[in-house]
Amino acid sequence: MNDPKRYLITAALPYANGPVHIGHLAGCYLPADIYVRYLRAQKRDVKFIGGSDEHGVPITIRALKEGITPQQVVDKFHALIKESMEQMGISFDIYSRTSNKVHHETAAAFFSKMYGDGLFEEKETEQYYDETTKTFLADRYITGTCPVCSNPNAYGDQCEKCGSALSPEQLINPHSALSEAVPVKKKTTHWYFPLQNYEAWLKEWIIEGHKEWKNNVYGQCKSWLDSGLQSRAMTRDSSWGIKVPTPPAPEGGGGKVLYVWFDAPIGYISATKELTEKWTDYWCKEDTKLVHFIGKDNIVFHCIIFPAMLRAHGGFVLPDNVPANEFLNIEGEKVSTSRNWAVWVHEYIKDFPGCEDVLRYVLCANAPETKDNDFTWKDFQDRNNSELVSIFGNFVNRTWVLMHKLCGGKVPTLHENILDEKDKTLVKEIENSKIKIQTLLEEYKFRDALFEVIDLSRKGNKYLQEKEPWIVAKKTTDDGKPTADAQQSIDNCLHMCLQLTANLAIFINPFLPGTAKKMIGMMKVVDKMLDWENAGKIKLLSVGYSLREPQLLFRKIEEEEITTQVEKLKSGLIKSSTIMTTENAAPTPENKTAPETKEVIQFEDFAKIDLKTGTITAAEKVDKADKLLKLEVDLGSEKRTIVSGIATHFDPSEIIGKQVVVVTNLAPRKMRGIESNGMILMAENNDGKLIFVNPDQTTHNGSGVS
Ligand code: 2FM
Ligand code: ZN
Repeated sequence: MNDPKRYLITAALPYANGPVHIGHLAGCYLPADIYVRYLRAQKRDVKFIGGSDEHGVPITIRALKEGITPQQVVDKFHALIKESMEQMGISFDIYSRTSNKVHHETAAAFFSKMYGDGLFEEKETEQYYDETTKTFLADRYITGTCPVCSNPNAYGDQCEKCGSALSPEQLINPHSALSEAVPVKKKTTHWYFPLQNYEAWLKEWIIEGHKEWKNNVYGQCKSWLDSGLQSRAMTRDSSWGIKVPTPPAPEGGGGKVLYVWFDAPIGYISATKELTEKWTDYWCKEDTKLVHFIGKDNIVFHCIIFPAMLRAHGGFVLPDNVPANEFLNIEGEKVSTSRNWAVWVHEYIKDFPGCEDVLRYVLCANAPETKDNDFTWKDFQDRNNSELVSIFGNFVNRTWVLMHKLCGGKVPTLHENILDEKDKTLVKEIENSKIKIQTLLEEYKFRDALFEVIDLSRKGNKYLQEKEPWIVAKKTTDDGKPTADAQQSIDNCLHMCLQLTANLAIFINPFLPGTAKKMIGMMKVVDKMLDWENAGKIKLLSVGYSLREPQLLFRKIEEEEITTQVEKLKSGLIKSSTIMTTENAAPTPENKTAPETKEVIQFEDFAKIDLKTGTITAAEKVDKADKLLKLEVDLGSEKRTIVSGIATHFDPSEIIGKQVVVVTNLAPRKMRGIESNGMILMAENNDGKLIFVNPDQTTHNGSGVS
């Protein structure tokens, strides 16, 4: 859209059924925030909308699993997610929640308008029903084998493995995710949105009208539209959600609620209503540019279903773009919340205080913009140490130290008469960078834009290296001071470097706002200097202005910190099938009650595991590790130290004297500097609490288990 009057930027509303992990950040919150910060620096009229998605099966499943109410689940995770977002600098204008009254009213009114206009089909169909829990099994309440790829754990709405959209009827061997029961069929009435009626319009709007959308987004839309659209139920049988209004439902909803994917995107509208009285300017005026930032699993909902709803309702603008990212894998494997294979944002913040910008940097530099990408702790360390510390931070620090040493801590004069080719080239580079970074940001190419910023600081280092002001300073007069010529050359060099630093602060600001803030602190200038209109200029800092002492922008990340993180990830995996408390379980797709089934192994494989009984003789908490206990286990012939991730489940004093089963021939592993020599077998009770697996009668320590 050319020259929009205002911008409305949304980022997917995460389910409030677990904390957010770095895949969520990389997928949509970070790119959205970078874009919004850039628009704000441009002084554009922009609103950034976010909030928690608090309805639907992901919430109720979590509640059932934990034995708490859905309200308790969403209250807890809404607060945790909101805090993580704030700490990571995701600068929403509002972070709302879909349980708010205004949202219930807005979504219900949206439904009523569509119903009143005769846009739904009312259909009675037979749906799978779990007789043991008296629940209709829609969406993720039902699992079975995927008819496309044979994944045995596909859901009633989607197969996570091959990405196929499914309906419960398509699953082979369906069973209830609540009770494992084989479901029966039962009649129920729902209101369906006939998407096929909008197919021609959607084809025209997307296939013809939005060829500029990212390939991954355009391609997925085309494939949906090519396979033909069908009516989709917009209501569900449930007590958790927004009650279907009357009419068509009886007073109180009659046990029917709106489908979560009907109400959630309307959440963007309700949150804007909550934010500003002028919400209709943003949602209803054609010169608004609406952009939805999402992850790839949300494409169909934001590009097809929600736009069709907006069109059907009438009166709303449509998204100008939906720059969805692909997925971020961790250490070569897909994120899996059920296996605890994830890096949780709130844990990162605790483990790396003050390093929020480092994570922003690495996630943007590695953003899965065109394909799935991988996050590794080694790459995290490398990017920090060899890019942020050695290139960007190093340039700024050298400039500051030299300016204090050779120019008395003030912005030196620029002697125009002696400007040389290197100076002029640097000025051009600064001007060109502005155009390049701006163009890339407008095209949602955040990685490339960030690389341009780093590249500019690399050029600064090169310039400083070639100019060598510390060598020039050795050309002195009798009093030991640099000669007049030498001082002029030093002045010019550091003047240029300081102006470049001011530009770097403007350029880095959308990506690493904390770093930009430190930089303007060092320059003793106001926030306004970061306005985009100042970028590309080389007169940002006035001659003679005295500047503060340098501040360290980034610190080195040590080998040990990374090893600890990799160990933490791997130890999380070992205990994954047992430890899934609300502390470390997360937004779902994978959260399900069906136990994980591993591949078949031969007896010889099992026989390799040395299992023995032992008694815990000592237990203590491990320093700075919330989840680890250091145990001493008596195995009869020897005592072993074992570090176990059970600290959130047991008080050390309550487990001394317990007999347990130990894997004794597991390779030793260091955790928080303590060598662990074995693993204790655990199971989970019905409340999700860990319990020891032990012989049903006490036996002598060291007895073999087979
Ligand atoms: O996939 C998810 O996490 C959904 N809760 C996203 C919803 S986005 C919007 F529609 F609210
Ligand atoms: Zn599949």
